[in-house]
Amino acid sequence: MTADTTPTTVNRAAWDLRTAVHLQSDFYPVDRVRAGQSTLNPPELALAGDVRGLRLLHLQCHFGLDTLSWARLGAEATGIDFSPAAVSAARTLAEETGLPARFECADVLALDAPGTPYDLAVTTYGVLCWLDDLDRWARAVHRMLRPGGRLVLVEFHPVLEALHPGRLSGAGGYFPGGPPQAVWTEGTYTDPSAPIRYPEYRWQHPVGSVVGALVGAGMEVTGLHEYPHCSYRLFDELDTCADGLWSDASAPGRLPYMYAITATRKTT
Ligand SMILES: C[S@@+](CC[C@H](N)C(=O)[O-])C[C@H]1O[C@@H](n2cnc3c(N)ncnc32)[C@H](O)[C@@H]1O
Repeated sequence: MTADTTPTTVNRAAWDLRTAVHLQSDFYPVDRVRAGQSTLNPPELALAGDVRGLRLLHLQCHFGLDTLSWARLGAEATGIDFSPAAVSAARTLAEETGLPARFECADVLALDAPGTPYDLAVTTYGVLCWLDDLDRWARAVHRMLRPGGRLVLVEFHPVLEALHPGRLSGAGGYFPGGPPQAVWTEGTYTDPSAPIRYPEYRWQHPVGSVVGALVGAGMEVTGLHEYPHCSYRLFDELDTCADGLWSDASAPGRLPYMYAITATRKTT
């Protein structure tokens, strides 16, 4: 029998390895979420608005800290991730906190239409670079939402890959280069010295491709925002934090660090 080396299988194994390290890290504040705090950041909170009573789908939820935070705000939250290790940890945290969040293990590109569609889909920070086919992703988002249902996407800005080559998608530029190759990675973003080593595949997605995929899938894009700051301290130059957002004090406003897209499933 030959080993399954498809990008999805390779990446899922990488995320299972990473999850074990992330659960122990300071980057993911598991204890603070257990104690009642939220991991949500100002951009997604502002764009989602009042989520009380909404059926909320959190795509690529990792081990669920944001999903639990949405549940704490009153959403009927479901988190989806393809890493069995992440989903198992998320379910344990839901039990421990008693928060009404559900977790499912699935590939975001291959989601079946739900029995009851969602009011709001949310996906944030470091999600699209793991997906090889944005058209499939956008069709899956469309399928999961009710007509009039909304998407909130907040993502690191892909132009940063041109300025910090290799840090986001590995493409080294703003536009995708050739077909991606499996790249061996050591450690993980929460701890570059963690004793794990694994191959992974990533893809570069310019903002225009994301908008194009959503429009092509039947979504109406209602907003496109670019931010001169970042919800995470992604790079050393992000040295100043105000109201939970990091910026470069030496060159404020020089670069977009994040972007966000809001879109609605058309009603006709
Ligand atoms: C950077 S993390 C999630 C970011 C999120 N903001 C967080 O920190 O909780 C990316 C997640 O995408 C998941 N993922 C990658 N490819 C996926 C796919 N095809 N289907 C579902 N989940 C996927 C990984 O397992 C991982 O948990």
